Amino acid sequence: MTELEDKIAQAQAEIERATNIVILTGAGISAESGVPTFRGEEGLWQNYRPEELATPEAFWNDPKLVWEWYDWRRNAVKDAKPNPGHYALAELEHYVQKITLITQNIDGLHQMAGSHDVLEMHGNLWQIKCTKCGEIEQSYEVPLAELPPKCKKCGEIGRPNVVWFGEMIDMAVIDAALQAIEQCQVMLIVGTSGVVEPAASMGLVAKQTDKTVIEINLEETPSAGLYDIVIREKSGEVLPLLFTSNKTLS
Ligand code: APR
Repeated sequence: MTELEDKIAQAQAEIERATNIVILTGAGISAESGVPTFRGEEGLWQNYRPEELATPEAFWNDPKLVWEWYDWRRNAVKDAKPNPGHYALAELEHYVQKITLITQNIDGLHQMAGSHDVLEMHGNLWQIKCTKCGEIEQSYEVPLAELPPKCKKCGEIGRPNVVWFGEMIDMAVIDAALQAIEQCQVMLIVGTSGVVEPAASMGLVAKQTDKTVIEINLEETPSAGLYDIVIREKSGEVLPLLFTSNKTLS
């Protein structure tokens, strides 16, 4: 048995035994769907400066410019389809009593693959939030007819319903995530560089409460040394192997 086969067998056994599993995903799980990540060679932050596009200051300084970038990202993602990694996580819901999927991604691919109750920590690219009345519109219009788009309810400027640098994440989402980690036996961390808080600390929280943490990520991450199983392979190739479909609901 190769080292990889041994790790996959170990991960399968941990998943087999678990009744509650928490999954945290990042941009890497969508890379095989053609969605650019942030920090790899092809990453978005190689060509754009987050301070100029992904902050409230940047938005109010030039709403049209920031919307041009998000319109470009919506166009880049509009034809993306879930990959076997997304589908494997959606399938896992049928074999494990409780799955909590926390994602940093805003592309909506987990929901498209069939995952339920996805905790979107950083919002959703397909939602426009009114900067005045807070109305949220689900919009798949690409390209947007008007930049910046206007609220259909009150006519004020809409913003992408995403969390920018310097903004707080919805505390209800963080509480739900931490509660799920407290109640799980196994945590899967997939496709995230583990550098942006609070997601970056969630694996540590799991280890501090003696959970089994399995990381699937192509590159090294700051906390990998604390995790139980670390698999440096593509998530779209590994996730479908992580559970044998003859598992019955435990
Ligand atoms: N399979 C597994 N891992 C992969 C794959 C793949 N096919 N492709 C890339 N990766 C890994 C990369 O090695 C990298 O470590 O996915 C990770 C993606 O890291 P980032 O690009 O930093 O994305 P993420 O961790 O999700 O960023 C967190 O930062 O910019 C903010 O809001 C943004 O949600 C984002 C947050």
